[in-house]
Amino acid sequence: MTDLKSVLGEAVGAAFAAEGVDAALARVTASDRPDLADFQSNGALAAAKALKANPRELASRVAERLAADPRLESVEVAGPGFINLKVAGATLAERAEAVAGDSDRAGASGVEAARKVIIDYAGPNVAKPMHVGHLRSSIIGESLKRLFRFRGDTVWGDAHFGDWGFQMGLLIVACADEGQKLPGADAFMADGDGPFPAESPVSLADLERLYPLAAAKAKEDEAFRDRARKATAELQSGRAGYRALWAHFVTVSRSALEREFSALGVDFDLWKGESDADAFVPGMVADLEKQGLLIADQGARIVRVAKEGDKRDLPPLLVVSSEGSAMYGTTDLATIVGRREDPGFDLILYVVDQRQADHFEQVFRAAYLAGYADEGALEHLGFGTMNGPDGKPFKTRAGGVLKLHDLITMATDKARERLKEAELGADLPEAEFEDIARKVAVAALKFADLSNNRTTSYVFDLDRFMSFEGKTGPYLLYQAVRIKSLLRKAADQGASAGAIAVAEPAERDLVLTLDAFDQAAADAYDKRSPHLIAEHAYRLAQSFSKFYAACPVLAAPDETTRASRLALAAAALRQLEIALDLLGIATPERM
Ligand code: ARG
Repeated sequence: MTDLKSVLGEAVGAAFAAEGVDAALARVTASDRPDLADFQSNGALAAAKALKANPRELASRVAERLAADPRLESVEVAGPGFINLKVAGATLAERAEAVAGDSDRAGASGVEAARKVIIDYAGPNVAKPMHVGHLRSSIIGESLKRLFRFRGDTVWGDAHFGDWGFQMGLLIVACADEGQKLPGADAFMADGDGPFPAESPVSLADLERLYPLAAAKAKEDEAFRDRARKATAELQSGRAGYRALWAHFVTVSRSALEREFSALGVDFDLWKGESDADAFVPGMVADLEKQGLLIADQGARIVRVAKEGDKRDLPPLLVVSSEGSAMYGTTDLATIVGRREDPGFDLILYVVDQRQADHFEQVFRAAYLAGYADEGALEHLGFGTMNGPDGKPFKTRAGGVLKLHDLITMATDKARERLKEAELGADLPEAEFEDIARKVAVAALKFADLSNNRTTSYVFDLDRFMSFEGKTGPYLLYQAVRIKSLLRKAADQGASAGAIAVAEPAERDLVLTLDAFDQAAADAYDKRSPHLIAEHAYRLAQSFSKFYAACPVLAAPDETTRASRLALAAAALRQLEIALDLLGIATPERM
């Protein structure tokens, strides 16, 4: 990394080394007291202990060595032996120039060796409306995909459509039972090779109506459940009519989902599903058998994954059910086998509700045991739930699951209302206003989610998410748009950006913030935590806001200062837009 912290870290390390101290002890961090210093090193405390020396004296000797460094404006020893560093204005300016000149990455470095990474996220299901768990997965996964790509990896986002399990059997049986009420469905029930109608007998509305009914019926009615199980097995083993009907289920569901994802600014490189694993199941089962990993258990076949020293019981992975069907774990394991062939991977990230942690632990262990993935190449990134005011997973007022489509509509209505209240975008053409409202809505939902730690749950509060003040998506968009408008005004006046000079405290602070993006992106990547990007975006918006209040730009005292401030504003905008884009948030041109 080339951020100031690393550059100073090296200088401080060398000064410590010259005092006979291991340079590794000389870590430089952002200052705890930004009013006093930009960076600090607490290395003398640890080093003095090891050397049995006086920490303040050691710190003073190191400080003396550093005093001559032209990159530092001041070096001071504080307290028991902290070394406080203030960066020279010229060095800040140089770093700001580097960030400003880096329009693709705004000063953030990339990984040393690119990896092939598959991000498995969203995981919507055929016929089942997406609920808030899918929403969180979509938002977090999309951000991670962008972040990993930004850092230089080769990344595929895969929707991993839930299109193969028991719910397919349920739907088939439900369609059969509809009889005359579902014109055209009958044709698919014939036990032959077809041909079967090219027209879908079901609409999305039919699927969404039938699925919950069938799921509820299966809970009570054993005969129905058995029929659905049998239908699932027959579908999987290739019964032509069922396959043809199933293909309609998939097409109808998928086109609706594509619309919803696109409204949310989420898209996939691979639109694969559980069904794509089917081709790999027979070979995999044979291979597991050959490796002696597959065990017969009450008519089913399983892989034992529990290990000595486990803190809790991990049940075995069910690979083949007693009906001969592939289960949720089977498709996940076979999907790994498939992904290894195409496109290949060094890492797969599964962005799925924390409640599925055991499932992934079972699948990963089985994959490692069978040699389908290198140890550590599979990671489950769980997340908490989005809760209602009662602290339980969010439900609509009617008690149902909130559909993504309805959520986006609701958020866009609210965004329109808020924009009007704030008198934003009032003179813009209607189509542009609509586009802004949609962007504000998506920014509000995504930022509200990503500004929380991935693993914590949060409460859904549209009013708060949609506020133009505070730590919100709309606030950040507003700040970005404000900079855009400043730059437009400058262009109108013929003022252009020029060499950056850093003098005022607010300018210093802005440059230090721009500098910190590198670390924020690296940490967010290492911890798989978009939340750190959200934090940085907010810090940057605030830092810019303070700069703009303290340092007149268009009315700067002279042309050189104005040119410098315009360059700083442009760099801040670019970095803010990049950070927002990493969160999956698009910025409008104006509002
Ligand atoms: N379709 C699943 C669900 O709705 C999520 C899929 C997650 N991804 C996976 N590879 N299992 O719960």
